[in-house]
Amino acid sequence: MKPIKISPSVLSSDFSRLGEETKMMDSCKADMLHLDVMDGNFVPNITFGAPVIKSIRNCTAMPFDVHLMINKPLRYIENFRDAGADIITFHVESGSPVAQTIERIRASGCAASLSVRPKTDIEEVFPYLDKLAMVLIMTVEPGFGGQSFITDTLGKISSLRAECLRRGLNLDIQVDGGINEQTIVDAAKAGANVFVAGSAVFNAKQPSQAINNLRRLAKDAFKWSV
Ligand code: DX5
Ligand code: ZN
Repeated sequence: MKPIKISPSVLSSDFSRLGEETKMMDSCKADMLHLDVMDGNFVPNITFGAPVIKSIRNCTAMPFDVHLMINKPLRYIENFRDAGADIITFHVESGSPVAQTIERIRASGCAASLSVRPKTDIEEVFPYLDKLAMVLIMTVEPGFGGQSFITDTLGKISSLRAECLRRGLNLDIQVDGGINEQTIVDAAKAGANVFVAGSAVFNAKQPSQAINNLRRLAKDAFKWSV
């Protein structure tokens, strides 16, 4: 059974208290922390970069799951590794050579993860699967938290899980955007096992309960034999 992981996105946290919010996710026993880096070019929003990530690195030992929504990410791999990234996700549409960027992430000591926007065919990641630790299937258009899950993406999740099974690859499949107690069930059934949740965790009255509920729902729904 593939481990189910919940990765809260700090995009929905209170940035004026980012260190405390990070420590809270640690005490809620989140599996990792999702850090959305946006450059105002690849997506129409700007968030934060490596210095901010570095500033919270000593608040927790949780793996840092860095989601780069930036153009030409190849230029910045070592910056994010030095800031404390454990997993670096970049987009197949980001304008950097994909194979070279994956190699650079692996050479930096981080786990490599490749992402597709909702409208991008999942087959675009197939040539790289054996070099990746994770594929991130965006379930909203990247750029903002609090959007609704795009149901059309479910087919891509199951195609990718089937391709991994066919090739004997034990890959993490992450989904990001609009994950809540309803949509997580559909995404887990389709074959996702790592779930980013921003508003569903940070807007909850009891974030630790929200994380536990999401994890339990996904565990019950994930039926793939990987
Ligand atoms: C959107 C980001 C997401 C976002 C998810 O572009 O990549 O990680 O924080 O937020 P929710 O869970 O609120 O959709
Ligand atoms: Zn994200």
